Amino acid sequence: MRADEKKLGEYYANPPEDISLANVDLGRIPRHVSIIMDGNGRWAQARGLDRSEGHVAGVDSLREAVTTSVRLGLDVLSVYAFSTENWCRPQHEVNLLMHLFATTLLNELPLFHQENVRLRFFGDIDALPTETAEAFHEGLRETADHTGMTFALAVNYGSRAEIARAAREVAQDVALGTLRSEDIDEKAISSRLYTADLPDPELLIRTSGEMRLSNYLLWQLAYTEFYVTPVMWPDFSRWDFLRAVRAFQGRHRRFGGVVEH
Ligand code: FPP
Repeated sequence: MRADEKKLGEYYANPPEDISLANVDLGRIPRHVSIIMDGNGRWAQARGLDRSEGHVAGVDSLREAVTTSVRLGLDVLSVYAFSTENWCRPQHEVNLLMHLFATTLLNELPLFHQENVRLRFFGDIDALPTETAEAFHEGLRETADHTGMTFALAVNYGSRAEIARAAREVAQDVALGTLRSEDIDEKAISSRLYTADLPDPELLIRTSGEMRLSNYLLWQLAYTEFYVTPVMWPDFSRWDFLRAVRAFQGRHRRFGGVVEH
């Protein structure tokens, strides 16, 4: 997908001092960017607010990240919204997040229609509370015909569980005789992951300064460039996105080989 440069210029008008559209090569935008959205709670606590206010503010950042990704011409934006480990947060916070996911998804459907965005989920969404699971399925149905960017939300997602699930499917196929054990290769695994048919992320952004993967896309991030910013997720803007892309374009990707100059 190529960015519509005129629209993009308007979107990126009035740049701050350190970054502008001129700092990135629009011909080398990563196809798939993935984001670990972190720091909502700390953002809220620093302002004397309840943690939930941080999650609510985080929705605005997420909307901007989707719009930015469409404008830049990404093929895939994926975000880590809720891990299998997040269930051990206080019950009222879990309830709030589940309700926020449901309402946000439905509220944003007009944006997904307008921008031709197709939804996808990583994780076991059928194990979510009914309101959330139903909203997600409605989102899938409503955007199934869209042909633009894929927007993937990782919800109730854990990478080790995902890989174990793929291994289980492989074992079942071998037992059924539809797959020979000598034919088990990387594709046999990757085609059974939630990310099947999507390109691996080229750039992973993590906000709030944490340097961890937190059980996220362990298989798919094998050669991904990481960009960690101290910015808390509710403050993450289109400019921070551009800073991440600039950093990505300054890297020499080697895929285990030698540096090309
Ligand atoms: C991490 O901050 C953020 C989350 C666990 C939730 C992210 C959810 C949103 C931004 C709402 C998005 C809506 C949809 C539809 C996906 P944290 O609570 O871990 O912050 P902390 O590290 O400061 O405690």
